[in-house]
Amino acid sequence: MRRRLIDAGRVGRALTTGLRGASGQDRVQRRRALLRFGALAAVLVLVLSVVGPVLAQAQDGNPYTTTDPKSPEGGMIQGLYRLIFWMGVVVFVFVQFLIVYTAMRFKRRRNQNTRPNQVHGHRTLEITWTVIPAIVLLIIAVPTISTIYSTYAASDDTEGATVVEVYGKQWWWEFHYPGMGPVDAQGNPTDLITANEVRVPEDQKVVFKLYSNNVIHSFWIPEMTGHMDVIPGHERRLSFTPETSGTYYGECAEFCGVAHAWMRFIVKVQPRADFDTWTTAMNQPPGAATAAYSRNGDVASAPTAFGRCLQCHAITGVPNAAQAGIAADPTSYSAGPNLTLLGCRDALAAGLLENTPENLAVWLLNPGHVKEGNYMYAVDSGIKNQGEEGALSPDDVNYLVAYLESLKPEGGCPENGTANGNMNVDALADNAAPVSTPAPATPAATPVGGTPVATGGAAPTGPVMLEGYDIGWTQKELTVPVGGTIDMYNSGVLEHNFAVEGYNDATPVDLPTGGEHVMWTVPADLPPGTYTFYCTVPGHRAAGMEGTITITAP
Ligand code: CUA
Repeated sequence: MRRRLIDAGRVGRALTTGLRGASGQDRVQRRRALLRFGALAAVLVLVLSVVGPVLAQAQDGNPYTTTDPKSPEGGMIQGLYRLIFWMGVVVFVFVQFLIVYTAMRFKRRRNQNTRPNQVHGHRTLEITWTVIPAIVLLIIAVPTISTIYSTYAASDDTEGATVVEVYGKQWWWEFHYPGMGPVDAQGNPTDLITANEVRVPEDQKVVFKLYSNNVIHSFWIPEMTGHMDVIPGHERRLSFTPETSGTYYGECAEFCGVAHAWMRFIVKVQPRADFDTWTTAMNQPPGAATAAYSRNGDVASAPTAFGRCLQCHAITGVPNAAQAGIAADPTSYSAGPNLTLLGCRDALAAGLLENTPENLAVWLLNPGHVKEGNYMYAVDSGIKNQGEEGALSPDDVNYLVAYLESLKPEGGCPENGTANGNMNVDALADNAAPVSTPAPATPAATPVGGTPVATGGAAPTGPVMLEGYDIGWTQKELTVPVGGTIDMYNSGVLEHNFAVEGYNDATPVDLPTGGEHVMWTVPADLPPGTYTFYCTVPGHRAAGMEGTITITAP
């Protein structure tokens, strides 16, 4: 510090008093040196001024660029960067000039054998170089603080905005549009829920409310605006007005565990009409194409192969036990991405793979290889890699691929938006390391998992069949006489229980996995009448595992 002051004093003195007492030879040498320095500086400035714009240009069109914002809010932040950058350039050039000039001007000469005069301090200079940085900081601080406050204020005001609740998961994103989902049994609108692909209308403010029930994530759409941390126990907000229709890419910007780098998402900005078409489609059950893969041709009944998926994954119009949002237990597998209209999405596994039948098969065959650490693979009842116990059979995978890719609305996918930039999902498929990739499935004439044996109704001469699957009963209406037999079995991978409401709720009939048949005789103390039967496993009744049983006189 002391030395700097001494040197600075010398510079100051020289600058304020000018060249004095230097010999003619010295002057010529110095002039040459300054000339060389000047030429060098000119070349440097030239190179910077050419390379800078070229680099910036190369960034435009890059899906993760921040230099070409597509919203006014992004523009404000970019404006701050530009201000700071150019002020930085001025300071840099000025300081570099002073350093080089001083070094050359005051270096020790060959014929100089005495130590130069040591000067301590220079009041004018010291005041100057305290005041200039203070002014520089002030110029930066005023617009920065005003930008911070105006963006916060904008995200607090949801008037006229599209509100999207975002739940950061490990390692994917869930999006809720409050009140825009299907109407529930009580007539109340529910949330429209989707995952890893969020759509917003063009030229309308969107307010993202950010939540997490696990670890800290950070929600970032680089082309739109800055990122915002997603903190458990807090509601954070981020808002902007997307100005240009197109497809944009987002990612998690806070290290959040094994698959943090694969926690990406797609943002589709669409004209209002296209957005409305999409929300309407999202609220419909799967289209007729899906029926070919469903149980008994009923789109509301997922195929048997999908049974275990239903515990974690929801599809609008298909009963399931999956939980969503904060309600979903972050440490259990019972919370996976909503798969409604999966056939229309661009990417799989949170932006890791392009959505093609081949990639979907790779993902289902070896989820742990494709995306290390993912919960679908990691948990006990999860889907294992091929060769491990609990893995899906290749036949089931084929069937699931066909079923999932068929999840499109009647008349095809809603307007998808124009691609803007390239997420380069193709290249990422190399990461998949597939063991074997089956050909895409063809529709099966009958559902996999066995044709239902009986459809209920009166069966006076033999036992009445009742099949439980994941998650539902194949027969919804049973008629059995007192003393008659119900032949039950479970074709799913989850445990189910059978109970007649008000009769044996506490002592239900266990239906173990594995398809073992369990005979149940209607006891004499169950008087004739119509009852509700259901599965007592928590969540299963709500997912649709109930029906009516009519007990007739013996
Ligand atoms: Cu979530 Cu990183």
